[in-house]
Amino acid sequence: MSAFHALLPLSDLPPGAMRAFELEGREVVLCRTREGLYALDNICTHAHARLCEGRLRATRLVCPLHGGAFDIRDGRPLGPPAQVPLGAHRVRISDGVIEVALAD
Ligand code: FES
Repeated sequence: MSAFHALLPLSDLPPGAMRAFELEGREVVLCRTREGLYALDNICTHAHARLCEGRLRATRLVCPLHGGAFDIRDGRPLGPPAQVPLGAHRVRISDGVIEVALAD
């Protein structure tokens, strides 16, 4: 199981914001909404688009390329053409800093 990596202070990511990172060679997007803080793979499972360039609405992340949608809480697809879930990673706050551990 992957270790946690410190990414940025929670105060630097306001609700409604997304931020992309590369962790262990994998592109990850952090999503913060009023519903919580989540980390997912940043590359859409439909084709090659960066989800950090899409729209975040409550728990719904919409791909900028073809409009596929994913649930940020677990990565499951919510709308076509997306059919394959996104990898969803573990997130925790430690001393006010967001930390993420990659899923296997
Ligand atoms: S690349 Fe994301 S829906 Fe097509």
